[in-house]
Amino acid sequence: MLLPPPEPVAVLAALSHQHGVEGGSGEWRGQAVYVKTLVSDDPDTVVRFHHEGAVAARLRHPLVTPLLAHTQTQLIFPFLPGGTLRDLLRSGPLDAGGATAVAWGVLQAVRHLHACGVTHHDLKPENVLLCGGSPAAQAVRLIDFGMSHAVGPGPDIHSGTRMGTPQFMAPEQFRGVRGDPRSDLYSVGVLLFDCLAGHPPHEDALGWLIGLSEDRPTLPGPAALHPLLRRALERHPAQRPQSAQEMLTDLAAARAALGLARLAESCRPSPV
Ligand SMILES: Nc1ncnc2c1ncn2[C@@H]1O[C@H](COP(=O)(O)OP(=O)(O)OP(=O)(O)O)[C@@H](O)[C@H]1O
Ligand SMILES: [Mg+2]
Repeated sequence: MLLPPPEPVAVLAALSHQHGVEGGSGEWRGQAVYVKTLVSDDPDTVVRFHHEGAVAARLRHPLVTPLLAHTQTQLIFPFLPGGTLRDLLRSGPLDAGGATAVAWGVLQAVRHLHACGVTHHDLKPENVLLCGGSPAAQAVRLIDFGMSHAVGPGPDIHSGTRMGTPQFMAPEQFRGVRGDPRSDLYSVGVLLFDCLAGHPPHEDALGWLIGLSEDRPTLPGPAALHPLLRRALERHPAQRPQSAQEMLTDLAAARAALGLARLAESCRPSPV
């Protein structure tokens, strides 16, 4: 689906350039926007770019950054100030309350993706915006559907690739398995670990992924979170939580055991 804007976006500042796509901030219809602009005519890059737009257009959830418009060369999102979860973690790990709140927000968004037939495949702190910079569930806005798998009539454009970020990638995803929602739950486990420890679980991520190392990391944070972390980080998907809902239920129980407040459900559709 292409949603042509009636007027071009004025890109005011280029922020990044990656694989034929430039990220920048700008203004559109009087609103501050984040724009991804296609600057390559390489056929694979073009297909990937429009795939990201098509997936983003399919999602409507308060904790997922909404797509405002999709043209032949631009994807336009609202500009959300506050930085990424990675920016926040640069000043140190989070306490159990903050880390579990962020994981709760991410899992709410992931549950919506999975219900829409979408597997993100690149969940990591760089792809989680925090509105206002605070580690709160409602501050979470998921971004970056560039590596996602979507159930649908078209072919999987990333089929056979090992794209993703090794530290955050589930072992089966590394072997090329695409579209298993439990791969995302593994990545959320790594994200929660990273929030609590200040680093992901495996120093030698590739060794772990190819099965050379069976190293079991020392789990960070309070013991009440360890069963959940251990399960999410299992090598075999069958031993992990089987759905985002199951992981949310475990997270709620762990927060209750820690005396932390109950967190709200975020299922309200967001205005686009
Ligand atoms: N809606 C937004 N509002 C504010 N900043 C954003 C927004 N979307 C993305 N960003 C910033 O731009 C960065 C890159 O965006 P994104 O993850 O979508 O692209 P990418 O393809 O991964 O590019 P890169 O490899 O450069 O990170 C994010 O990590 C974040 O810092
Ligand atoms: Mg990214």
